[in-house]
Parts: sequence; structure tokens; C-alpha cells
Amino acid sequence: MASIVVIDHPIILRIAALAVDKGASAYVVGGYVRDALMGRARSDVDITIVGDAVDFARQVANLFNSKAVVYERFGTAMVPIGDMHVEFVGTRREEYHANSRKPVVTMGTLDDDLRRRDFTVNAMAASLAPETLGHVVDLFGGQADLADGVLRTPLDPVITMSDDPLRMMRAARFAAQLGFRIDADTERAITDMADRIGIISQERITDEFLKILGAPLPSIGLKVLFQTGLLKHILPEVHALAGVDLVAVGNREYRHKDVFLHTLQVVDNVAKVSNNVWLRLATLMHDVAKPKTKRFVEGTGWTFHGHEDVGARWQEKIFRRMKLPMDHLDYVQRLVRLHQRPMMLVDEGVTDSAIRRLAVAAGEALDDLFVLCKADVTTKNPRLAERYTRNYDVVKAKVDAVAERDQLRSFQSPLRGEEIMSITGLPPSRTIGYIKWMIEEAILEGDIPNDVTAAKNYMLANVDQWVAQAETAHFQRRG
Ligand code: CTP
Repeated sequence: MASIVVIDHPIILRIAALAVDKGASAYVVGGYVRDALMGRARSDVDITIVGDAVDFARQVANLFNSKAVVYERFGTAMVPIGDMHVEFVGTRREEYHANSRKPVVTMGTLDDDLRRRDFTVNAMAASLAPETLGHVVDLFGGQADLADGVLRTPLDPVITMSDDPLRMMRAARFAAQLGFRIDADTERAITDMADRIGIISQERITDEFLKILGAPLPSIGLKVLFQTGLLKHILPEVHALAGVDLVAVGNREYRHKDVFLHTLQVVDNVAKVSNNVWLRLATLMHDVAKPKTKRFVEGTGWTFHGHEDVGARWQEKIFRRMKLPMDHLDYVQRLVRLHQRPMMLVDEGVTDSAIRRLAVAAGEALDDLFVLCKADVTTKNPRLAERYTRNYDVVKAKVDAVAERDQLRSFQSPLRGEEIMSITGLPPSRTIGYIKWMIEEAILEGDIPNDVTAAKNYMLANVDQWVAQAETAHFQRRG
């Protein structure tokens, strides 16, 4: 007997009634049916119309006083209704004939629609006709695959993936989101044709990639990307983290840990405590320059000196290539650059100045930096893990205390450039920047408090000397 999904959403029911009025045959399809069968709620719905979907979408838009956004080329339309997005697609069949590069489009059937979808679990429809409301049409064993937790293509995977190679990444995404495994034939096809991802626009790739990072356990999807070879095309820097080097000295062998596997674990640790996808991205990137900076030093072992700075520098190029939103670049760079710093402040004797500098360098990313640092503790030794975590708590408490006392969260010199010019009468110049910097340094060093009067007095006492030095001074914030 066919399964039934409950269709009781008032908007969908009104659309169903309109379909009856207009004599159209309509089905809810794809993710909505999948999620309903899994007992997951969702707000977006796809509806397949046997026939002209665009015309029907316009009538739906009229009914709800909305406007249809029409994609003429694909014969699809989207109608926003309240906070719901309803997508309409027609069951058209496209056939290519010899001597013509243009497809011949005919009306097609529900079967034509379903067979061109990505995975069997996404290729089910539920009827919107009154007498069969919610009856599931499952032509490719989608329900069985749902029960088994398998992602399988309705057609030969090579055909399904060739139709839209982004589906190779969608397999990784659904594996991570739903915790499903990918059927062996499908995975083999993806592996064989991974380079076809090159024909997909960067925007679509990045969108899918961020969805993988946003999954409950991103490592599942990232592993699929790695194992199928997709990661090499999408993010070669992260692909290059995999592997272990081994050096033999005398009769001892020295190996470092597999940075890719370590990174996956840290990303999952972060994902358990934060949904912030930019924090997850920064975590994925935190050791990205380890392969570039690794050296074997006799007597010391493997070192990755400066990997945090190199990794932070790489971010701009990676952001540009992946077309990631540049307003998150600074945040990701800070976290990559600073991820080793809290560990260096564990010592009892650490100065307030070092603590202040960390607070200022991290700025708004300070709390997230500690989330990353704690997630980075992946030792299997529980006593060590507990000790490291406790150390971070101690450092965090110190940083919080100093940052709060000295109001360093969004640190700026208490005297701005304009004020420095009006007090000193100096024109705009490099000298003003130098004076501002000297004031900030004095605050960070703890020589003066973070307030206007102290800054003004300190400046007036030193300004002549600074003006003389400014020409040749080299000033750049330490940390
Ligand atoms: N689809 C497809 N191939 C694609 C994209 C989408 O076959 N490259 C089909 C699938 O049947 C999918 C439906 O279109 O279920 C809707 O696509 P989308 O909204 O991207 O995915 P959902 O399955 O709805 O999942 P979610 O909304 O949770 O991302």
C-alpha cells in the first residue's frame, strides 16, 4: 500500500483546491516529501504540475496577492507566500534530436519529472488531488532508501550526475545533513567524474560547500569530498592537509599527525557547540599552511613554524577564488592568525601587556577564538585533554578580566586623528598616525590607562619628541 504523508498546511491546501478548480494535476515533490516522511518540518515546498507550471504559478500568485518570479528558460516559477517559498516546476520532457542543439520540449509526465531528479529519496511525489491527498508516488525505491539511509540516483549515476554535476556535491551535503551513506555505484561515478565539477559556477559550488560546513557533522561531507577527489578541485589547500610524513633518525621514526583528519575532528568539535559557519570555516582553515611550513628538526621533531601567519595570509586569495563574502575575511584571518596565541599565554608569569594585545588583536572574535582553541584539543589522553581545556579557561578568564577592565573589546585610541590635529595644530600626515599609535602602544603596555585625559597628558608630554621621530619611525602593531 502506498504511504501517505499528511498534507495539512493551509497554503498547500489552498493551492491543491486551486489545482482542482483549474483542472491541473499537482504534486508536492522532492525535499518536502522526503522531510515529511522523515518527520522533519520545513517551510519551502516544491510543486510539480503536469503541464504548464508557469501559468499555474501566476494563478497561485493572484490568489495570494503575491508575484511569481518566472524562470522562462526552465519553465519554472517561484511564488513567495508569507515566509514560505513555493517553487513550481512543469513535467516537461526535453529531447535532443540529431542536427539540433536545441531540445524539443513536450509536456511529459510525472514519471519524466521524477526520473530527472538527483536521488531516489528526493524523487518522490505526494498527490494534491482530493481523493488521493498525500499519497506518495515512489517509482525508484525512495522510501526503502530513506529507511536504509542511502543516497542513490534514480537513473544510472553517470547520467544523473552529468545532468547537473553539482549533484556530486549535493551527495556530500545530504550525507552530512541526513547522516546517510552514498551507494557504492553512485560514489564510484562521482569519483570517476569529479573533474566535471569544473563546469559549475563558483557561486553554486560555494553555496553547497557552506551547506556542508553548516551540517551537524561537517566531517561526513568533507570526507566524501576528499575521498571522491572533489575537494582537490574545490579547495586544494585543504585537500593537501592529508597524509603523514615519516622521518627515521637512528632506529626511531618520527611522524606527525594527519592534519586533515585532525582538522575534521576540530571542525566537528566546533560544530557541536556553534552554528556559526564562519567560525567553522576558520576552523577548517586553522592549520591550512602546515604542509607549506613543515620542517623536520633533529632533536625537536616536526615543526610548523609560522603556519598561523601564512595560513591567515592565504585567506584573501581563497576568499576571492571561492567568491566568499569579503566581510567575513577579517574575522577568519584573525582566528587563523591567533589560534596558537592563547596556548602561549598559559604561563603563570604572562604579562598583562601580552593579554591586552591578544584581546585587541582578536577584537570581536575573542570568544570564538577560545571556542576554536578548546576544539583543537584532540588528544586521546583524557588527563591531558582536561589539563589543556582547564588552561584555556584560565587564560580566557584572564583575558576577559583585562579586556573588561581596560575596555579593550573594540579598542581604539581614546584620541582620534581629528582630536590629535586640533590639539597639536599639526596638519594631516603620517605623523598623526604615529602619535595615535604611540598612545595605543602605551595603553597596551599598561603605561597609561585607557582614557582621554591620560592620553592627552601623555601626548602633550611627548609630542615634540614624536614629531622628530615620526619621519623615520617604523610603526606596526605587535600582535
Ligand atoms: N533537485 C535535483 N537536482 C539538483 C537540485 C535539486 O534533482 N541539482 C531536485 C531534488 O528533487 C530536490 C528538489 O529538486 O529534492 C529541490 O531542490 P533543493 O531545494 O535544492 O533541495 P531539497 O531536497 O529541497 O533540500 P533542502 O531544501 O533541504 O536543501
